Amino acid sequence: MAELKFVGADKPQLGQPLSPREEAVRRLKAKGFLDPAGQPMPRRQFLVSLALAWATFAAALGGGLTALFAFMVPRVDFTRVDVFKVGPPTNFAPNTVDESFKAAHRMWVVNHDSRIFAIQSVCTHLGCTPNWMDGERKFKCPCHGSGYTIDGINFEGPAPFPMRRYEVTLADDGQIVVNEGRLFFWEKGEFDDPRAFVAV
Ligand code: FES
Repeated sequence: MAELKFVGADKPQLGQPLSPREEAVRRLKAKGFLDPAGQPMPRRQFLVSLALAWATFAAALGGGLTALFAFMVPRVDFTRVDVFKVGPPTNFAPNTVDESFKAAHRMWVVNHDSRIFAIQSVCTHLGCTPNWMDGERKFKCPCHGSGYTIDGINFEGPAPFPMRRYEVTLADDGQIVVNEGRLFFWEKGEFDDPRAFVAV
């Protein structure tokens, strides 16, 4: 049998395929079980290599699981309850919807019918975030088409109830304070509760 010749490290010359034994040796070398001379690695070195391989695998698996967990858990902290000031009543002109707090607090401040109230920007159908359509003077939910009047009362689409309102009070410095920890429900007759609006 012709002697096997190598080009570079372990590549056979063109036209001279490796025998099964030589192929096995080549693979063992590639995986680090044999040294370049074809001798088995010392046991200690082999165990170190094996441990390193397992550590790498475990790290990759851990990283993957962490990424999957981070992907599945919402980044918004819906459990957080804020109490915050939105400014004095004069900041909110009659018959307007202030969208300044929608992104951070998912709510609008509305001045309508001599009352200022804070509407939670959550559709009562399945929880999507409606948009205020100033030209049409209504809130419109992009998910299934529910529509709400400027005071958050549902009038079209599948939404079963008006949108909820947060508690609003006046602080000593004259600013309106919104409490996200207390919601008022139309269906419970709570919209006329004195804490559900600031009279102007
Ligand atoms: Fe708004 Fe369905 S979630 S209409």
